[in-house]
Amino acid sequence: MAKESEKKQHTPHKKIKLGVFGFGCVGQGLYHVLNETHGIKAEIKKICVKNRDKKRILDQTIFTYDKNDILSDREIDVVVELIDDARAAFEIVKTALQNGKHVVTANKRMIAEHLNEIYELQQKYDRSVLYEGSVCGSIPILRNLEEYYDNDLITSIEGIFNGSTNYILTKVFEERKSYLEALKGAQDLGFAESDPSLDVQAFDPKFKLTIAIAHTFGVFLKPEQIINLGIQKISSVDLKYARENNLTIKLVARAYKRDGKIFALVAPQFIPTDHMLASVRNEYNAVLVEGAFAEKQVFIGKGAGSYPTGSAVLSDISALTYDYRYEYKKFTQGESLPFSNHATVDVIISFPKGSLVSPKDFEHFKGGYQGDKYQYMTGSVKLEKLKEWNAWDEVSVILAPEPNLLPIKETNKQLLYA
Ligand code: HSE
Repeated sequence: MAKESEKKQHTPHKKIKLGVFGFGCVGQGLYHVLNETHGIKAEIKKICVKNRDKKRILDQTIFTYDKNDILSDREIDVVVELIDDARAAFEIVKTALQNGKHVVTANKRMIAEHLNEIYELQQKYDRSVLYEGSVCGSIPILRNLEEYYDNDLITSIEGIFNGSTNYILTKVFEERKSYLEALKGAQDLGFAESDPSLDVQAFDPKFKLTIAIAHTFGVFLKPEQIINLGIQKISSVDLKYARENNLTIKLVARAYKRDGKIFALVAPQFIPTDHMLASVRNEYNAVLVEGAFAEKQVFIGKGAGSYPTGSAVLSDISALTYDYRYEYKKFTQGESLPFSNHATVDVIISFPKGSLVSPKDFEHFKGGYQGDKYQYMTGSVKLEKLKEWNAWDEVSVILAPEPNLLPIKETNKQLLYA
């Protein structure tokens, strides 16, 4: 029998005081879910905002305009960073950690651009930075990757990582709304970024994928290493093609481990209407994880919006009451694989007749079709080629229903000619 002194002490969850930066869509969502959640031992002491003239739903006494009122307040244990500006957010996170505070943030751009530094700052100051709300809103994917999949060999992670574009594509397909009308809907509902080109050009899902890759494969990438194609060039010709072939279009983020390397891509894809992702509509997101042993698993939930994201932020705050921190297990386990864009993928492209696209642009050209004004081509191309086409306004690139993202085999010429 264990002696009294050997028995594990049960530490009751502590009460924590929060200093919040930002009171926009997510900040207000957090305030609401915190108020409605009984039993959580956390309270907001101060909220730092920029705009003095904005009408607020709370009494003015809780607001401050001076970041030091939070960062230098010894009573505040946790800084909750929910502002828009990634650069200012990183400064807040750094100072908060230096001053001995834990941090909860949902700022995907800031985290993706500073993953390595955020990891090191946590070690240096022995404090925790949690950011579940930054990847796919309410879906608890990061803690699952850290805890549940800590020793499964994950081979791929993919899915719908942006709520706004999924909302736009749903409205355009199902309600035949115009792209601009659908985008306005996503903005009015608070799903879109303040610069919506981050959503529609697929930078936002790329930031999220960069973060997910760190927790899936233990590889810290810079977002600019990953190629991202958005939905802004999808034309009525592509929609017609999809409808005629029982397909829909989704913006898919994906990362695979193949041949000892990590490959990743964010791009629109034709999805068969009976595929699981086809039924993920509006601002919902989905994450498909494939492991060597667990095989395929899917998480679906709201990827954007005030309360869903606020609930993920609240869950991180709650985790801090029992001293939770990410261990970055895949990274510390040391299987740091190289990242590569040296791969091919199957695409279907459309462009106005007369554009300078040629079958020679393909590694393997499968065929083409000419309409009155438009032309389609299909086949496999190098990822580098996608980057080139992305800069051409008239070429719309959509991945094939089975995109077959495959590493290009290195041929050892010396051996060949030996
Ligand atoms: N703009 C983002 C989206 C918000 O639409 O998914 C949630 O991260």
